[in-house]
Parts: sequence; C-alpha cells; structure tokens
Amino acid sequence: MNQKLLDAVNNAIEIARWAPSSHNCQPWKVITLESAGKQYDVLLDKPLKSNELLCCLALDKKRQLNALPSLRFEMYVSCGLFLGLFWLAVTQQKVRCRFHWLCDTELNLSWLQLASEHESELLVAMTLSTEDFEADNEYQVSRTTSRLNQLLELVSTRRTFRGLFQDDLFDQETISNLLSNHWPQLLTGLEASAHFEQDIDHIHGVTQLVAKYAALDFSSYRAWKETYRYLRFDLQDNAEDGFYLQSLFGPMPKRKIKFYEYILSPLVMQMLRLVNVPQHMATELSKLVDKSAQLLIIKLNKEHLSKRNLVMTGARLMEIWLQAHHMGVALHPISVLLQHDEPRETLQSLLQCHNERIVFVARAGYINTAASVSPRRPVQSIHTAVGS
Ligand SMILES: Cc1cc2nc3c(=O)[nH]c(=O)nc-3n(C[C@H](O)[C@H](O)[C@H](O)COP(=O)(O)O)c2cc1C
Repeated sequence: MNQKLLDAVNNAIEIARWAPSSHNCQPWKVITLESAGKQYDVLLDKPLKSNELLCCLALDKKRQLNALPSLRFEMYVSCGLFLGLFWLAVTQQKVRCRFHWLCDTELNLSWLQLASEHESELLVAMTLSTEDFEADNEYQVSRTTSRLNQLLELVSTRRTFRGLFQDDLFDQETISNLLSNHWPQLLTGLEASAHFEQDIDHIHGVTQLVAKYAALDFSSYRAWKETYRYLRFDLQDNAEDGFYLQSLFGPMPKRKIKFYEYILSPLVMQMLRLVNVPQHMATELSKLVDKSAQLLIIKLNKEHLSKRNLVMTGARLMEIWLQAHHMGVALHPISVLLQHDEPRETLQSLLQCHNERIVFVARAGYINTAASVSPRRPVQSIHTAVGS
C-alpha cells in the first residue's frame, strides 16, 4: 500500500476527528482501499493508478443517533464537518483529492458489499494522489509538519460554548470575514445559505420558541434516554465520545455532579415533569438565547435536501466554525428547534424562510474563557485499511 498516502490519511484523521458532531457521537468512519480494483471503477472518473489511494467517508450505522427521525439530518451534517477538516488536512500535505459522491447514487454490488461489511452508509469516495513524485526535502517535510501542527492546535481548541457570550453585535466586516468562502465548491456546494440573524425582534421570537419547545428535549423519554447515554460525569474516565456535564453547567464539586447524574437520568426526568423541571431547564436555555446578540442560521432550499447537500452543508459549516474560532468567536447550536416539526416550521415562518428548511441554528458571540474538555475517538478506531 502507498505508505505515504496512508500516513497522510492518518494525519488528516488526527485533525478531522476534532470536528464537532451532535452529542459528540462522532458518527464517521474512514475506509481506505489498497487496490480499488475494477469492481469500484464504475463510479470513478478514471481507473485508479498505482500511486493513488481510494479513501471513503462513511456514516457509521452503529454510532448514528436515531431517537428522532430529524437526527438523520444532523448525522449527515456531522459527517460533512469531519469531511471539511479531512479535506483541509489532506491537501495541506500536498495530496490531491478528487471527490466521487456515493450518496444519492445507485451503487453497484461491490460498493454495497463494502458498505454492509463495514455496517456503514458510504457518503463520498476520494481518490488521493501525491502532487509530485519528487522526494520531499527536509525543508518541505518540516514546513508540512509545522502547518499540520498549527492546524491541529486550531481545531483541537475549538469548542461549543454554552455559557454567556460577550454582548458585541458583529459589524459588517466581521460578518463578511466569518462567512468568507475559500473552500472549493466541490466540497461545500452552492446550495447552503448562511447568515447571522441580528434583528432584535427575531431574537426575541426565537427566545420564546426555545422557552416553549426546548422542554421537548428533556421530557421526551426516547430522545432524552439517547442524550443521557452521551452525558459524561467523570472527567477521569477517559471517555472517547459524549460530553461532560461540566461543559453544560461549568465546573462543580463532585457531590453536585452525583446529584445531577441522578436527577438527569431518564426515569427521574420523567417524574420531574410533574414539577415542571424540563420547563425550568427550557426557560434557562431561552434566557441565554435572549442575551445573544446574533444567531447563525444555515438553510437549504427544500428542493435541495439531498444527503449530498447535507454533507456539503456540514463542510461549509466547518469552514465558518473554524474561521469563527480563529477570530475568537464561539457557537452554541440550539438544535431542539429543528428536531421537531412544529418549532422548526414556526422558526422558518418567523425568519421568513419561504421554501427553505433551516438545517442549523446556533447562538454566536465572542468568548474569553478557556476551552473545556471534549473527548475524541482515537485515529485507529475511525480508520480501516482494507487490503486487496
Ligand atoms: C449538527 C450539530 C448539532 C448540535 N446541537 C447541539 C445542541 O442542540 N445543543 C448543544 O449544546 N450542542 C449541540 N451541538 C454541539 C455538540 O454537542 C458538540 O459539538 C460536541 O459535544 C463536541 O464538543 P465540541 O464542539 O466542544 O468539540 C451540536 C453539534 C452539531 C455538529
């Protein structure tokens, strides 16, 4: 197998694994094929050469969230976030990357077999090749290493921030920097439209929607049971996925953590509905929304809601999220508004989205707090190299 390309893939996964995902479930899988062979050629624009490597990004069926039908959308967007960082890291190593979309396409038996062997849904295959065949000199190697280290530093310090933001309203220059588009269209597509909502009436409207509907998250037994599986209570337990209680509520003593572990458990939460605890939590979340100066909204035309466009939207979101982090801006997604039809449709009419579906909504603002811990799976659990 082309060891140089395999090393580049592993380096890229080391970076891409820091992509955000719903509940930090990290639903991605990377499969590389040593010899793509004729059976896979059918979807590739030309047969694979000996110095090329075929690398597939897939949705890992064992890791996907499925308590609500709308979570399918979040799974494709999450894989797109990973794909964006993967592309960035692989091309930083002077590796060329040609995309062959596998989702929304009729796959032949060999592809289907590959998907079923790996219990996954194939999303996109990438033909990777080195840009030149000259042996890299020491200077080039050290430049690539330093670029990758800088990128790793940036991606591994980005965090979802769930506290109060500074109340600055972004000015036009900041917004155009945040939304500037440098990644290729073949990766991010053209369909997703992103903007920052700053209209005070709209923010109040969204606040009311959160107060009214966010309890759905906490009081739906099935949805909360799945969320609770991803809550981590012990910072010492070396988790590989999920999110720590502290990243929701800030640092707290052990006694209080134990208390939350108990009261947040799904059965207890069901009982606490009788005394309106889910409603109280929704109200607290809505206060954060009310104090936000802006919301990031990403939408897709309803006619363009394909899996491929959702993955591409994820890549576009990653470009914005990374640029935001670079500028000291953090995001806090409020997905409960999108996970149920009624709040989503009300939100869409509030924001005058005609014939468009909102696929991502987040509070956005400057922060000056240190990053909290966010666990990740190791590279070897994400990557499977298949021999011929
Ligand atoms: C599509 C998507 C939806 C998300 N929805 C929420 C949400 O509703 N509430 C929340 O607090 N975090 C949400 N998150 C943030 C994830 O929980 C977070 O990315 C993950 O726990 C990893 O943490 P990190 O972003 O700090 O690395 C969402 C992330 C993604 C990608």
